[in-house]
Amino acid sequence: MNLLVLGTGGREHALAYKLAQDDKVKTVFVATGNAGTKSEPKLQNVALDIKDHKAVATFCQNNGIEFVLVGAEAPLVAGIVDDLQKENIKVWGCSQYCSQLEGSKAFAKDFMVKHAIPTAFYEVFSEVAPAKDFVKQQGTPIVIKADGLAAGKGVIVAMNEAEAFGAIDDMLSGNKFGQAGSRVVIEEFLAGEEASFICMIDGKNILPMATSQDHKRIFEGDKGDNTGGMGAYSPAPVVTDEVHQKVMNQIIRPVVQAMADNGTPYTGFLYAGLMIDKDSNPKVIEFNCRFGDPETQPIMMRLKSSLVDLIMLGLDGNLPSVAEWDDRPALGIVLAGRDYPQGSNKGDVITGLGETDDVKIFHAGTAVNDKGEIITSGGRIVCVTALGESIKDAQTKALAVCEQVQFDGKQYRRDIGWRAIGR
Ligand code: AMP
Ligand code: GLY
Repeated sequence: MNLLVLGTGGREHALAYKLAQDDKVKTVFVATGNAGTKSEPKLQNVALDIKDHKAVATFCQNNGIEFVLVGAEAPLVAGIVDDLQKENIKVWGCSQYCSQLEGSKAFAKDFMVKHAIPTAFYEVFSEVAPAKDFVKQQGTPIVIKADGLAAGKGVIVAMNEAEAFGAIDDMLSGNKFGQAGSRVVIEEFLAGEEASFICMIDGKNILPMATSQDHKRIFEGDKGDNTGGMGAYSPAPVVTDEVHQKVMNQIIRPVVQAMADNGTPYTGFLYAGLMIDKDSNPKVIEFNCRFGDPETQPIMMRLKSSLVDLIMLGLDGNLPSVAEWDDRPALGIVLAGRDYPQGSNKGDVITGLGETDDVKIFHAGTAVNDKGEIITSGGRIVCVTALGESIKDAQTKALAVCEQVQFDGKQYRRDIGWRAIGR
């Protein structure tokens, strides 16, 4: 069978790589992919404009695509699932309606309050003066978020009033995030340890993926600006059995039930970004309507079940409640370009991309130039992902390969996994 994955990042490389391991699969097309998906066996890049849903549908019809897997949030928010379904094309992802859980922080917050899902106290503002009054009244630390999609970068954790006011000015009057910043959500600062809790959902059945933890900040020690994620590992020991039960009962099941009751069943991946406090109580920081990047990379390294089978069962409404996992932990380290997270880098030649046993290099912002060399083409360039006997062992294996990969301006964190290793 042939499949189509939509996206260009490390997440899509990992998902496509995993799909291709199933013997039933002949070709996994990736639109538009990167240098990694271009060279992988059974994967083939296609230059489709994924904003053109009609063109995607035509490609599927002409190439016998069994199902489409949507990697990133933008096409979901643009309603690609609804549009492909109208053409009778099977697609793994959520509807435009459900994607508002990620596409609009205001929608997500209202939804959580309505369904008693634990989250930070918040208010939404579109004017500067009342937003600042709210900050004065609440005190700091406080969190300022652009309302729409900002690729994980529209969030400022303000430690003092000046920082909070600066963020409000940037977002509301400075237009720093364009349309995404025309409203801001100002919310309570949550203390604790973060984890990513990602599930597959078929409208009613829930299959939790292995747990994971991301590292959002650009610098070691969790310092500096927020990014899309600088590295991740799985499993995350902070998600104990007790926390797992609470997340399922207080967060995931209520979302699935509420969406079903509303006549808008949730399908596809659902990602709850959690803050877990010292009493093991989880609160939702954000929902994403897709897999995490870079969480996908270590999680797919550990998934032993066929992702093709799981998605096909999900498309039929028969998703199992458990999958089979490699007991070994996996850890992925992102190598980013010099200008990340403010900008991206293009055209720097990348060398040293050799993989070793248990270490896989998932590409993100890479391309191939006229000379056939692999070059940088984005903010996050690759994610070096290793399986190990322990998280420390996986980190050591990944770091060895991170050192060997070379490109101008390479930056990465050597401390991915520090919380789990410190336990
Ligand atoms: P988001 O894009 O909403 O996931 O936020 C990005 C990052 O900002 C999160 O991963 C957290 O590290 C941090 N953050 C967001 N909201 C809060 C909050 N209410 N309290 C503390 N940290 C937060
Ligand atoms: N790694 C965070 C995200 O995918 O949103």
